[in-house]
Amino acid sequence: MDELQKKISSLDNSRMPVHVAMIMDGNGRWAKKQGFARSDGHAEGVSTVHRVTKLSSDLGIKYLTLYAFSTENWNRPADEVDTLMYLIGWAIERELPELLENNVRIHLLGDIDRIPEDARKRLLYAREATSHCTGLQLNMCLSYSARWEIAEAARRIARKAVAGELDPDSISEQMVADNLTTAGIPDPDLLIRTGGEERISNYLLWQIAYSELYFTPVLWPDFSDEEYVDAIIDYQNRERRFGKTSEQVQNNE
Ligand code: FPP
Repeated sequence: MDELQKKISSLDNSRMPVHVAMIMDGNGRWAKKQGFARSDGHAEGVSTVHRVTKLSSDLGIKYLTLYAFSTENWNRPADEVDTLMYLIGWAIERELPELLENNVRIHLLGDIDRIPEDARKRLLYAREATSHCTGLQLNMCLSYSARWEIAEAARRIARKAVAGELDPDSISEQMVADNLTTAGIPDPDLLIRTGGEERISNYLLWQIAYSELYFTPVLWPDFSDEEYVDAIIDYQNRERRFGKTSEQVQNNE
């Protein structure tokens, strides 16, 4: 048995994260280290997306949410934005047969209308083509930022209040959650950020209230299956208290 298989078999199946979210950072630095253009780093990053999707599916994880392009990423140089959009459209089309084979359902989170038409069409096609799949749900955050999504939810709820369809006093946390792009998706159990920075960068701010955070210096293109399993092992060794005491958690109160 190789190292990876040994680690996988050491996992506690009763404590697998249901939802893993990832911030895929470090493509640019990876490329620079190799003397390549930043876009080559993004292209290499697609291979990691392929691997983490496959491994998540094999491990029985139900939701994998990837921060593929943030609202703020629109401010990058135009040629880098174009490359990323091209890569995303190209990758989703290329991966579609294998996604279907693995029963993976594509879900899109973010301001999808801002995505250039060519990439958008491929993404919408993949979402439609995989809509019957019942295995891993792969949530791709595109033109996404948490503050954008929370403001969107506020606008939606306010419109209903103004139309007299709801009483402002009845606005609950559940109602806010139901108006986010992640409505119906359980909150992430584990958030992994590669690339060495220890920040959240406007990602899933509402949803990660009780997520376990895992930061690794490994750059996204180098993030291996073994490192992914290490993050899950680390997660399984943590005690999730959700505001309770350790004693309460241990007594299942
Ligand atoms: C951050 O690295 C990464 C991104 C902004 C884009 C992530 C996109 C991919 C991995 C490819 C496409 C994805 C899919 C879902 C098919 P960075 O450029 O900020 O790296 P740096 O911090 O080293 O500069």
